Amino acid sequence: MRKLIKSLIAAVVVALSMTGAWADEVDDLVAQMTLAEKIGQMTQAERSAATPNDVATFFLGSILSGGGSSPADGSVAGWAAMHDAYQQAALSTRLGIPILYGIDAVHGHNNVVGATIFPHNIGLGATRDRELIEEIGRITALEVSATGLEWTFAPAVSVARDQRWGRTYESFGEDPALQNLLTARYLSGLQGSTMGGEHLIACAKHYVGDGGTANGTDQGNTILDETALRQIHMQGFIQAVSQNVGTVMPSYSSWNGDKMHGNGYLITTVLKGELGFDGFVISDWNAIDQLPGSYYDQVVASVNAGIDMFMEPYRYGQFIATLTEAVNNGDVSMNRIDDAVIRILRVKFASGVMDSPYADQDLVTGGLVGSAAHRAVAREAVRKSAVLLKNDGVLPLDKNANIYLAGKGADSIGYQMGGWSIGWQGTTDPNATPGATIREALEHAVAATSGTLTYNRDGYGVSGDVAVVVVAEEPYAEFYGDNLNGLSIDPTELDVLNRVLNAGLPTVVVMLSGRPLFVSDEIDKWDAFVAAWLPGTEGDGLADVLFGDYDFTGKLPMTWPRDASQVPLNVGDEPYDPLFPYGYGLRLRSGGTSFVVY
Ligand code: BGC
Ligand code: BGC
Repeated sequence: MRKLIKSLIAAVVVALSMTGAWADEVDDLVAQMTLAEKIGQMTQAERSAATPNDVATFFLGSILSGGGSSPADGSVAGWAAMHDAYQQAALSTRLGIPILYGIDAVHGHNNVVGATIFPHNIGLGATRDRELIEEIGRITALEVSATGLEWTFAPAVSVARDQRWGRTYESFGEDPALQNLLTARYLSGLQGSTMGGEHLIACAKHYVGDGGTANGTDQGNTILDETALRQIHMQGFIQAVSQNVGTVMPSYSSWNGDKMHGNGYLITTVLKGELGFDGFVISDWNAIDQLPGSYYDQVVASVNAGIDMFMEPYRYGQFIATLTEAVNNGDVSMNRIDDAVIRILRVKFASGVMDSPYADQDLVTGGLVGSAAHRAVAREAVRKSAVLLKNDGVLPLDKNANIYLAGKGADSIGYQMGGWSIGWQGTTDPNATPGATIREALEHAVAATSGTLTYNRDGYGVSGDVAVVVVAEEPYAEFYGDNLNGLSIDPTELDVLNRVLNAGLPTVVVMLSGRPLFVSDEIDKWDAFVAAWLPGTEGDGLADVLFGDYDFTGKLPMTWPRDASQVPLNVGDEPYDPLFPYGYGLRLRSGGTSFVVY
């Protein structure tokens, strides 16, 4: 508790400095604003549903790209031109307040073809590497800045407590110690000290308890007393506020039956008051619709709970009309409106967008997006995120061996990336964006040797000295991933694997998944097992560890349960008898038997 209070005091001190710095500029502007201009600032629309002209007409404060929402010209210059067209419209209004353009850059700039795609957060949790995560934040910010955008809806500081949850991979892992370890450094990479220039405004999400819902149901109900809610699910937010995070997004989920988007106690009293958060709160996509009552009731309840900007992707016009009516009726006070607008403008001033609203052409044309240097960092992240769970001596692979490879995920950038990649739900397109598939990575590794690589997607024609089989989850995002296949390996994937196993070669299984899948009935037949999570575009990082050029260092960010009867199972639970405990991870050079819990 004392520690908590200390970090709260630290948070307030940093936060006050942001408040103080822009107070005069913000006050001057707010004093000139009409109600329509203020409510416009509080409104965010989706690019596909709002033109630059709509930005000017409604005084919109922000535009977003939802998952997979890209301009027709999806080049770096095309993105920047789209951004600048919205910005130009905003600058043409009476007060000329720039918009913020927000996007889910949650593992690199993942909507953009050609960007560097890093492992999803679950893999970053496995690295335990704060320096690396800061560098990933910095590179993500740079690639997003190169397309002109100002704001990412990241990081998710969710604590995934039940891997049936379809968003498990967006979490660093099940132990809040991971959020404590990684959040501040990730944010300092994303936001830098200014949130502007080559940096971004970040967004800690989803406040609070998104990973704690009963049965892992996405957008479900988190049933916990307040002490446990704070100890498990609030840690990342405390870190984020102390790092001066610009924005926070409430969760779709409920706490003890009440939707977070209407929870004035947790949003206003705790987040803004006690924690001292002085950025702004952005609602999630159409999330206020899930509050009880009419749309009018939903708008009133969520504004009064302390939400400052509203992600109303399509019905922003109705939102503006409804909030205007609520203010005129006295159901929302002018003080509340002014507080919201002050918060939004403060972040706009602090981020530098008021002075530099347009894309920086040096960045746009700088060849930064997907650069070799950025991909090298992603490759490092891939090799550090892989967790070696079993090795009967078949690893490291010999580069001079004849290697047989199978599995649809073995030659597909789409499967490697998982959800929130090019499309909202991800893609199974093997060539969705440039990168190295696992097949290509193994080929690169044996290219200059006498070794060979034979690939057969479906596990036919097995031959050679050793087999590698990649088993993959189908890509998914959010509720689409809830309890997929009951967390078993997809039956068609298992068919491919068993076909290869029947041929009798020593066999390495590499799993591409957003979470632990049950393997107890199968693992005895495997000679080695690697959890590769959702590594992103740089498959060469897997070859680095499979061939032993680097040792495995990844440690489980989640408990690996034996079967469904054990779920949910988290470190610290009693009894605790998983297949592999939290923190488990073998090394190639330690005889393959030891492990350390972190
Ligand atoms: C959007 C996503 C959004 C989701 C919400 C999708 O259509 O592309 O960005 O998160 O809807 O349900
Ligand atoms: C997700 C958020 C995301 C938003 C915008 C929602 O469906 O829950 O995490 O930031 O869409 O795409």
